[in-house]
Amino acid sequence: MADNRVVIFDSTLRDGEQSPGCSMNTPEKLKMARQLMELGVDVLEAGFPIASDDDFEAVRQIGLQAEDSVVVAALARATRADIERAAAALESSRKPRLHVFLATSDIHLEHKLRVTRQQALDQIGEAISLARSFVDDVEFSAEDSTRTERQYLGEALRVAVQAGATTLNTPDTVGISVPEEYAQMIRDVRQAVGDGPILSVHCHNDLGLAVANSLAAVAAGARQVECTINGIGERAGNAALEEIIMALRVRHDVMPFETGIRTELLYPSSQLLTSIIGVAVQPNKAVVGRNAFAHEAGIHQDGVLKLALTYEIMTPQSVGVPTNRIILGKHSGRHALQKRYEDLGIHPDSAQLAELYRRFVQLADRKKIVVDEDLLRLVQQMEQQSVSTV
Ligand code: KIV
Ligand code: ZN
Repeated sequence: MADNRVVIFDSTLRDGEQSPGCSMNTPEKLKMARQLMELGVDVLEAGFPIASDDDFEAVRQIGLQAEDSVVVAALARATRADIERAAAALESSRKPRLHVFLATSDIHLEHKLRVTRQQALDQIGEAISLARSFVDDVEFSAEDSTRTERQYLGEALRVAVQAGATTLNTPDTVGISVPEEYAQMIRDVRQAVGDGPILSVHCHNDLGLAVANSLAAVAAGARQVECTINGIGERAGNAALEEIIMALRVRHDVMPFETGIRTELLYPSSQLLTSIIGVAVQPNKAVVGRNAFAHEAGIHQDGVLKLALTYEIMTPQSVGVPTNRIILGKHSGRHALQKRYEDLGIHPDSAQLAELYRRFVQLADRKKIVVDEDLLRLVQQMEQQSVSTV
């Protein structure tokens, strides 16, 4: 794989699915999995098989149906029962990955797991060796990496590599990190483990920094990014896949990295997920929100109509949004109104346009958004009045 290729690890069906209101049944997961494969993700984390029979079944069926190009991952805590269950779910998968995790921060070791640092190291070694007895592709995640003492984090990751882990993930589980700090962690981890393993990042969005942290980590040497469609995930969510992809594409000049994602399927993938889970994205959400390509201010509309690049850094088509949706409201200008009338097949002359615009502004003062039906009504009213005054 080229040195600048970033592996996209999608966790919509695992971390995303485990967040409130986002659960999916097996047929829904299969539908979403097919879309994610079309989209071009490299690794598809299909679920957490020990969590429920449904999760097990979803992982099994996705593994069975997955194309050769995609790795199907299943999550497991660092215990025999979890790993055996995940391995069983992946049995029919052509490219299986076991994703084993254990927390490494003192706060988790002392208060959640109630084990010493040494006990955790032993558990990591045993768990990864067991996972490797089932599959060649094993990822280890040091949960709560960003709050783990750095020296110890390096030690834990070295134990995982010695036991056979091929990908090392250092999650910002609680979403507390900031970009430069997270990037430094990646550089430190690279020093601690050497060149062999792929370094992965997994960022939560509690401070709204999940995407920024992920990108900083890539610049520092990480080559796998874990993310979800629409940014769904525990609490404030995970890094949004569509934002990472479009940031890498739009700012290729400063982040010269490649992925296998077909960007024109980003919006359809977002829409499909929304229709499955019934959780809509905020209107102003980057890349896939309803307003991401909508322009209301007159000056913006005028600019976009003359040259889209004036206010658009990417085209709606490049992410699969059907058209550039100009929203007509009280800030809209005459040029936008004329364009919308022309789109509706109506070509007012300049006097008519002036009159229509006057009426439009009056209406827009009363109504937040003026829709096509309103515009057609304005034409009718104007025509009726001009007939009655003749
Ligand atoms: O946030 C996290 O630490 C996780 C791990 C299981 C990778 O989701
Ligand atoms: Zn997570």
